Amino acid sequence: MTKWQKSNWRAKPRIQMPDYTDADALHAVEGQLSKYPPLVFAGEARRLKQALGAAGRGEAFLLQGGDCAESFDQFSADSIRDTFKVMLQMAMVLTYGAKVPVVKVGRMAGQFAKPRSAPTEVVNGVELPSYRGDIINDLPFTAEARVPDPKKMLQAYTQSAATLNLLRAFSTGGYADVHQVHRWTLDFTQGDGAARYRDMAARISDTLDFMSAAGVDSARAHTLQTVDFYTSHESLLLEYEEALTRQDSISGDWLAGSGHMIWIGDRTRQPDGAHVEFASGVLNPVGLKCGPTTTAEDLKVLMKKLNPENEEGKLTLIARFGAGKVAEHLPRLIKAVQEEGANVTWVCDAMHGNTIKSATGYKTRPFEAVLREVQDFFSVHNAEGSIPGGVHFEMTGLDVTECTGGVREVTEENLSDRYHTACDPRLNASQSLELAFLVAEELTKRRESKSLAASA
Ligand code: PEP
Ligand code: CO
Repeated sequence: MTKWQKSNWRAKPRIQMPDYTDADALHAVEGQLSKYPPLVFAGEARRLKQALGAAGRGEAFLLQGGDCAESFDQFSADSIRDTFKVMLQMAMVLTYGAKVPVVKVGRMAGQFAKPRSAPTEVVNGVELPSYRGDIINDLPFTAEARVPDPKKMLQAYTQSAATLNLLRAFSTGGYADVHQVHRWTLDFTQGDGAARYRDMAARISDTLDFMSAAGVDSARAHTLQTVDFYTSHESLLLEYEEALTRQDSISGDWLAGSGHMIWIGDRTRQPDGAHVEFASGVLNPVGLKCGPTTTAEDLKVLMKKLNPENEEGKLTLIARFGAGKVAEHLPRLIKAVQEEGANVTWVCDAMHGNTIKSATGYKTRPFEAVLREVQDFFSVHNAEGSIPGGVHFEMTGLDVTECTGGVREVTEENLSDRYHTACDPRLNASQSLELAFLVAEELTKRRESKSLAASA
């Protein structure tokens, strides 16, 4: 077998990537990026790998969430803060349900490139290349906007660096204090329709009061005031990924310096394709989307390629089948994992199998379908004796109207009010937190039935 090199993907079939027309401009950008500092460091990626390994064993639980696609236009400190804030609230509620640490990973600081179902888009008889995310081209439907421009990679890098800088500051600068996070959650449960969540919120309040009375607060102040927050994105635009790949000076291993965790999308997971080739050689934890067309045979090949040493935490399988379809597809993949004795962390992406077109013409996702897919995911794991290690959502801390449902109900008629996504519909802050309460209830049930089984 030839040794992995960061450019080996170039000899493999490339799909879902733009054909840049100006080769000189592309090379200039690649040259520049390859001199810039990496955004993340090898030690951080290894620490995340350990945390994900714990999630794979049921000793932690992953919460991965953020925009479908980050945007240059909507970039602001407030939107980063609000998404970070709601993820902390969700993590706290999930910790309470799961009684294990919640590993927090944003779809942030690098989630720009998008795979598309068709290479072109036709509007009123005019055909143009599809929009592929702000790192590649622009959303407006004009020929000029849709030309892929390599210089956009530099802006994506800069925005990712600024985002990560803010996330690092929020994680350690006092913003993440548990008491503060809980106060925000109490505000939510005072709202109309949220009564059913007040009981769990009150139990969390009790726990915090008990901890301060017992002096845990002051003794463990650092733990309660800071969080580990990691970044992730789909490793789709391989010119960008390669240019940010660095050799770790200590181990000699290769790090994708663009984010802590990278994943391979449902459309680019061909075992002999460019995307799998690139991801197979980096030390970062890697996610692999598993959809209705993933076969057990392909999964076995992919697990060997992406995790040849069978390391814990290295490979996260992100199931995205759609509510009502999990029982049809997930069991064959769980069996493939069991047959190989492979170490993986199973996570449920409850968004990408549940996209529908509303009567009003908007792409949306019903809240109840998102919840139902998580519930299906838990029951299949219960039946197969494997471990549900986490959840993956497209969400934002902003008050958008993109998914329908929730206690502050968004209806199909409301979708047009604040529909801001450049790509897929996201849960808003209230829907995200509500979902965390409902998933926490599922986690509680699972824990209780396991301890009942253990004592029987
Ligand atoms: C995504 O996560 O935004 C995405 C495109 O997912 P998938 O590859 O599972 O369709
Ligand atoms: Co998406």
